[in-house]
Amino acid sequence: MERTGRLQTRDKATIWHPFTQMADWEKDDPLVIERGEGNYLFDTEGRKYFDGVSSLWVNLFGHRRKEIDDAIRSQLDRVAHSTFLGLSHAPAIELAEKLLAVAPPGLSRVFYSDNGSTAMEIAIKMAFQYWRQQEGGGRARQEFLTLSEAYHGDTIGSVSAGGIDLFHKIFRPLLFSTRRIPAPHCYRCPYGLTRPSCDLFCAERMEAEIRARKDLLAAAIVEPLVQGAAGMLLMPEGYLARLRAVTRECGILLICDEVATGFGRTGTMFACEQEGVAPDILAVAKGMTGGYLPLAATLATGEIYRAFLGRYEEFKTFFHGHSYTANPLGCAAAIATLSIFEREEVLPRVSRLSETMARELAELSGHRNVGEIRRKGLMAGIEIVADRGTRERFPAGEKIGQRVVRKVRERGVILRPLGDVIVLMPPFSSSESEIEFLVRSAAWAIEAVLGGGHS
Ligand SMILES: Cc1ncc(COP(=O)(O)O)c(C=O)c1O
Repeated sequence: MERTGRLQTRDKATIWHPFTQMADWEKDDPLVIERGEGNYLFDTEGRKYFDGVSSLWVNLFGHRRKEIDDAIRSQLDRVAHSTFLGLSHAPAIELAEKLLAVAPPGLSRVFYSDNGSTAMEIAIKMAFQYWRQQEGGGRARQEFLTLSEAYHGDTIGSVSAGGIDLFHKIFRPLLFSTRRIPAPHCYRCPYGLTRPSCDLFCAERMEAEIRARKDLLAAAIVEPLVQGAAGMLLMPEGYLARLRAVTRECGILLICDEVATGFGRTGTMFACEQEGVAPDILAVAKGMTGGYLPLAATLATGEIYRAFLGRYEEFKTFFHGHSYTANPLGCAAAIATLSIFEREEVLPRVSRLSETMARELAELSGHRNVGEIRRKGLMAGIEIVADRGTRERFPAGEKIGQRVVRKVRERGVILRPLGDVIVLMPPFSSSESEIEFLVRSAAWAIEAVLGGGHS
């Protein structure tokens, strides 16, 4: 206890945590994590917690997974880092081959970076410069079509493409403007319609917007199937395929942000596969290293790549890079992660576990404060509302989401909410009984905070 107390005091004296109201943090009794093993994290008091959000959506196969540990150690015996500007190394080459082998068809180049935000920043800059280097009318294409409620990271470019007012509005004077259209979110349909009688009116509007601006748009940017940070909003079936069809028809690039959905999370290697969609640019990060190290990649088609080729003095070069681009340790972890996909039946396992999760979540659907339960693969959100009839939210000051995740710690589970959406995102290495335990613990915490009434 003494050691934990000292660490907490030193943390509070020196550290500024991300997405955290530090005034609350300073009053709190924060967990200090000491180690991880399998699907569990242990704090400095030796208490054991199920990692219910895969350490913020990154961990796939548990902590201290031997193959990944070994791969990093073995790379460490060679070199921890060397620059990728003007040099190469075997782990980055091998990883690029592995990534392209599992990526949607047409993607043939890998541009590395170190986190999801920069992977998206790169996607945006790449699309912009691609059009600047076209002959004729292409140069006029400077706009990006984005969705409300979108989240693509926290750097200024990715915030510009974002649409979550709570996070992004304050920065608006700093951002470039985009053509933002309403997110296709059925629970709170922006057009006040319901499915299936709406006949996907949202897709019709999206198509009309794209056709109307077809000579001005550089690219459409989308989180395929699930808008994660917005609260696990699910895209209605067919929307993504129609977005691909209309962008193709109008000659506009499609950027898919699979930072959250990639690497099996939604049940397929990439979410866009579920609608037979292959983007022009794909951003990946998070799960790529199995949740071990910060590494990201932006994949592009050969056509995009070729637009950057030229004589040196033409300066068609993509002038972008980071000190730690393609860090070899991260690449080694990612190779080991993709090798697990190759060796083991990961996707069927995700599918089996998602069925268990769906079955367990169904038990909660009658609770009077559960507005909607949204799930795709092993990515789920339970939206808590004050009133199921009107879908009215609780006042922010009630901090319902935070209270639920604080409560669930008593059951030995770590969660992190998105507002009043309780997110469940377990590692793929979870057992069926751990999935049951996770959902039942979340249900218990929701009832502990809100009472157990069903309606
Ligand atoms: C869809 C999406 N894009 C981008 C990001 C940003 O990734 P990072 O936190 O690695 O910068 C996230 C993070 O949650 C995300 O969900």
